[in-house]
Amino acid sequence: MWNTVALCSLGKRPPGAASPLLPRLQTLNRVFERKYQDLCHGKEPARSLQNQGLKRTRDMLPCRLVSNKAKHKRYAKTYPVLDGRILSVYRHVFEENLRNSEAVIKRYSELLETASKGGGENAILRHTQRNKKLFVRERLKLLLDDESFLELSPLAGLDLPYGDVPAAGCLTGIGKICGVWCVFMANDATVKGGTIYPIGVKKQLRAQEIALQNRLCSVYLVDSGGAFLPLQSELFPDKLHGGRVFYNEAIMSAMRIPQVAVVCGSCVAGGAYVPTMAEEAVIIDKIGTLFLAGPPLVKAATGEDVSPEDLGGAKLHSQVSGCSDHFASSEEEAYECIRNVISTLNYRPLPEEAMEHDSPLYSPDELLGLAPRDYRCTLPVKLILSRLMDGSRFQEFKANYGTTLVTGFGHVEGCLVGVVASNGELSHDAALKGSHFVQLCGQRGVPILFLQNTAPQAPQPASLSQAEAHSNRLKAQASMMAAVACAPVPKITIVIGGCYGTESYVMCGRSFSPNFLFLWPNARVALVDSRHFSAAPGAEDSDSAGDESELKQLKEKLEEESSAFYSSARLWDDGVILPQNTRKVIAQCLEITAQHKSQVVSPCPHPVIRM
Ligand code: COA
Repeated sequence: MWNTVALCSLGKRPPGAASPLLPRLQTLNRVFERKYQDLCHGKEPARSLQNQGLKRTRDMLPCRLVSNKAKHKRYAKTYPVLDGRILSVYRHVFEENLRNSEAVIKRYSELLETASKGGGENAILRHTQRNKKLFVRERLKLLLDDESFLELSPLAGLDLPYGDVPAAGCLTGIGKICGVWCVFMANDATVKGGTIYPIGVKKQLRAQEIALQNRLCSVYLVDSGGAFLPLQSELFPDKLHGGRVFYNEAIMSAMRIPQVAVVCGSCVAGGAYVPTMAEEAVIIDKIGTLFLAGPPLVKAATGEDVSPEDLGGAKLHSQVSGCSDHFASSEEEAYECIRNVISTLNYRPLPEEAMEHDSPLYSPDELLGLAPRDYRCTLPVKLILSRLMDGSRFQEFKANYGTTLVTGFGHVEGCLVGVVASNGELSHDAALKGSHFVQLCGQRGVPILFLQNTAPQAPQPASLSQAEAHSNRLKAQASMMAAVACAPVPKITIVIGGCYGTESYVMCGRSFSPNFLFLWPNARVALVDSRHFSAAPGAEDSDSAGDESELKQLKEKLEEESSAFYSSARLWDDGVILPQNTRKVIAQCLEITAQHKSQVVSPCPHPVIRM
């Protein structure tokens, strides 16, 4: 998973990058490396049998015919190099940011560890020993080509009003199967029998939205008792509740976005529709069962004793009902079968080798000191860009105009991207420049990377001229919002600092539907920054002590609700990523959003309907 990938790459240092802070950063990295090795139970990521299987499958597929490596290299090498040196005047701010990064990353690793344990030791034992099933992460190892998958929102579901639901009870992400990027949705049955909580529905719908927006095949590993009944009113009746998952399956199939499923546990009620709506499904003998009401309900209704196998086991659904298309005698066989199914999608495989590219000239580890603790600790955003772009090269657009927004082109692991990066308050000129640049990217079909660090809310205007300036800025920001909303290219947003107020919409926040949105652990997400207002909105005239204590409470509430972890628990983003890993994640997202170009799309406008 990318968290592990991040850690593996932390020790790397690009040439020519010297930093007195490196020993400290490296210590931090080593601590993480150990932590993640623990999380992965110290297991080797290699999966030789599967890899052999993969090789077999891939060898059968046609190769890409055209390579534009040489041309690409020539252009990338001619962009100007950014000066990424951290001047001594910035040193104390760098140090302050670094201390904050250490603290928030520590919290991040604690939360990840909690999420990785699913429903806890007893539930895992019940799942693996009594029910003889593989833990969900083991299943993913068998399904995917390798472990460098992009896990989505692993912290979703933690510390919600209805309790902790580790990983929202369902792992989602994007990984390669036979060289094809696929979205996976895998129930974790150690969390209350894989039943679906409201946050689990939201997580699955977001994964489906990603599949839809990026035209990615979806693989469902279904092991779910259906709705978590005590919360039924929050997950049954509304438009974006449970039923939407089945609706989306049909719509995506009609759009030629394949849906495949493995029945790898007890699939009851809602859990039974997911594989039945899929285009192709595999069921595992003595492990997978599928029914609308289980044996206890049959007993209650008819007085009849019936075993799960006889009511809805693998043989019944493969031989009698036809709800499943493939019978697998073991979990291993089931995932091998799904990998074979994926190889029949007739996609042209992506190149196995990464595109040739240069590393940044400055260490990505130093991003920890550039990740702003708060808006006042923000350093020039080009220092961050110099640690993200290939060769630290950047072809800036309108370098001397509207400088509180930095725009321009660069490459990330060989992929061209248009960058729109906050570098201060989004002024009138900056917003006009942003509008212009976003339209350029749209015209040229270049994906856009937003690095968001919005300013806290602007103070109320104190004069007529200030009010006029505000109106002008409003107009320019509105035009940039329209340009961002309508740009017909993939958009990736990374919140590197603040995500506050309307500027966050202009910078392609969640409601502007970027293809992906990730947060750095230091990020803050709220309508206003609690640390930057001295009076509660609407309470300026009050002078009583009671109001002061109310204001204090409001600030504390805002403070808690603004953290990156609070946001990620509620799925307001696609996950928290380590700053050092940002390049890798961006590169994966760019590859994922470009995959549809290699799809063979037939003109048939109907979903596949199970007969
Ligand atoms: N709603 C709420 N909680 C549920 C649940 C549901 N639909 N189904 C199971 N649970 C809970 C159990 O109470 C238990 O909680 P606990 O760990 O706090 O004791 C936990 O999930 C695990 O259930 P358990 O039955 O012990 O595990 P299992 O692996 O033997 O069986 C199921 C899992 C899902 C197959 C089984 O619990 C089942 O059939 N549940 C009923 C499913 C159902 O009728 N769904 C209808 C939804 S409309």
